[in-house]
Order: sequence, then C-alpha cells, then structure tokens
Amino acid sequence: MLAQKPPMGWNTWNTFGADINESLIRESADAFVDTGLKDAGYEYLVIDDCWSEYNRDPVTDRIVPHHEKFPNGMKVVADYVHSKGLKFGMYSCDGVRTCADYPGSFDHEFLDAQMFAEFGVDYLKYDNCYKPNNADGPTLYRRMAMALRASGRDILFSACNWGTDDVWTWIRAAGAHMYRSTGDINDSAESYRNIVKSQADKFGYSGPGCYNDIDMLTVGMYGKGLVGSVGCNDADYRSQFSLWCMFSAPLMLGCDIRHLNEQTLRLVTNRELLRIDQDGECRPPIIRDCLWDDTSRVMLKMLDNNEYAIAFYNMGEKDRTLPMLFTEFGLPAHSGYGFKVRNLFTGEDEGFYKEYMRIPVKAHDCAVYRAQLVRDK
Ligand code: GLA
Repeated sequence: MLAQKPPMGWNTWNTFGADINESLIRESADAFVDTGLKDAGYEYLVIDDCWSEYNRDPVTDRIVPHHEKFPNGMKVVADYVHSKGLKFGMYSCDGVRTCADYPGSFDHEFLDAQMFAEFGVDYLKYDNCYKPNNADGPTLYRRMAMALRASGRDILFSACNWGTDDVWTWIRAAGAHMYRSTGDINDSAESYRNIVKSQADKFGYSGPGCYNDIDMLTVGMYGKGLVGSVGCNDADYRSQFSLWCMFSAPLMLGCDIRHLNEQTLRLVTNRELLRIDQDGECRPPIIRDCLWDDTSRVMLKMLDNNEYAIAFYNMGEKDRTLPMLFTEFGLPAHSGYGFKVRNLFTGEDEGFYKEYMRIPVKAHDCAVYRAQLVRDK
C-alpha cells in the first residue's frame, strides 16, 4: 500500500518555479543524501510545473520534455534520482493547460499516465487549472487515478485542487494518496497561519492512504525564491514545521536543499518531531485557544504507545506565557494523573505537570513536548 505514512520529500516549485533543469535535479538528489535528509526519511524528489515544451508532439500527441531544461529526457533524470535510493515525482494537471500554461492531461489521462510510468515516475502531483467548465472535478481525479493504476507502476497520486468541491468528502474514494486543501502558501507568517486556521477542524478526514496536504513547506526559504514573499524567521519556521507535524501532514520541503543552513537542517531532521508527523495512529490534535483571543493555540495529540504530543503556539507579536488547562482536553485534576514531558527542541526532560502547564513562549515561536500520562507519586 502506498502512503502508509505521510509522504516526505522536496518539490521544486516554492523556490525555483519555472527555473528548473537536469543539473538542479541531480544536485538536489545529491543533497538529499549528503545532508542526511534521506536518512531522516525524506524520500520523494518532485519536479513541479514547467518541465515540458509548450505544446504536445503533433504526431505522437505526447507531452515533450523541454529541450533545454531536460535535453536528455526524463527517464535519465528518474534513473539518477533512483540511483540515489530516492523516489521520483512529476506534475500534470486535470485541465487542458497546467497552471503555468504548459500542456495539461485533460482527455489524455491514459496516454500521459503511461508516459509517466515509462519515465519511472513514482509520484504524480495533479493540479486543477484550465479545467473545462462542463467537466466535473471529482470525475477528472478519479479518471487520472484509474489511469495511474492501469499504468502498471505504483504511482502515488497527489491531488491538488486547493480544497474546492469540498475535496475532503470525496477524494479518498477517488483514489488519491494526498490532497491539497488550500491555495498556495508563501513564505510569510500570515500565510502558514491562515492555512492552519482554515484546516484545523478538517483533519478528521486525513489518515493512512490519503492525507490532507496543507502545501509545501517554506521552512528555510528566508524570503528567497518564487514564493519568498516577506520571509519568515527561525521562530516561524519552528512553528510552521511543528504544526505540519502535529497534523501529520505530508512534509514536502520547498527551500533550496543544496544550501541549507544549520538551523534549518536541524529542524527538518529533528527525529522527535518527525516521529510525531509519522505516528502510526495519525490522529489530529485537540486544539484550544488559550488566551481567549486569536493569537495563541495549545494542542494535544494522542500518539501510539499511549504517548502524547503537546504544543504551544504564540502567534502574537509579544512574548507571553501560555497556559494549558488539562481539564479542557479531558483530563480532570481528581484523576491523580498528569503529564511527564520532554522538550523536543532542547531534548530535555522538564518534569511532571499536574492540572496545567504554563510555558513562556516568544513571539511567533512555539514549544513542543512529547508527554506520558502518569500517576502523581
Ligand atoms: C498551482 C499549485 C502550486 C504549483 C503551481 C504550478 O498554483 O497550487 O502548488 O504547482 O500551480 O503552476
């Protein structure tokens, strides 16, 4: 079965947009291995939009790889990615053109799926631009899912219709392994916070085999690249990355992985955070705003092995102490139980808390713990 855990990898779009080519892909595949991303579990290297010529081949009707960007075709690129022990992803669209105006797969689904399989593709991101008005979205996703299944290759199907048509209600049945539920992210605090707010109550639909995809991460972009926007600081990146983990969302990096700084690398390979993302039970967190305004959140996520993840998010502009009342999450004080916690950024055991926690958190930052529910001695 594909996608037993939330998929992890890297995608070209956030940083490079149309500026992609074979050397970028080779260097990024090398970087997966050399930086330790691969050892940490990152697996899929995905080429997004803009990889082809502007028109299909008039004779074969096939999409043609761009002659300057990918002069040796895509099979060679896929082979290189596979030689590094990674999986290879590509992109198409359910409309007649892709979002950046290259040929889309509408009415060519089986032909294109066959082509992707011949290239050696393991993952297909499938966008939603230039769809004819009389075409039904769910039908087009089901059609491509069947074309991929008929291709003879295991291809993870990453649907990208930005949450339209109440996607969460039908996409699992349509055969996708993940589904974009929001518009495009950019590298700003406002963007990742809005994404999380819009999806916070929708993760009940997300789980093994089909995950809510809240977009590629901007962690480590620092304002550079296509969706660079105003940029974020390291506190924001800790918040963004750990939020994606608390939701067990797919983790697709979007920064230039050939030039990761130490903080970014440490964050995205933090084994404890990754364990939360990849937790087998894949439960969404229980969420409360803790200061009766809209600028803070506390979360409790049940994990397997009877453990928990606890997280505090300060989305305000001032440093504050954030309270978490355990009774609001279901644990009464008279039970005699409390949480023994370990801070996942410092690695330190911070002792036992009964009834409540009060944690100082700097503006834009977060605190994340792994916790065990134990009896007070
Ligand atoms: C849409 C998608 C993005 C990206 C671009 C490519 O906007 O949501 O993630 O794939 O198209 O053009």
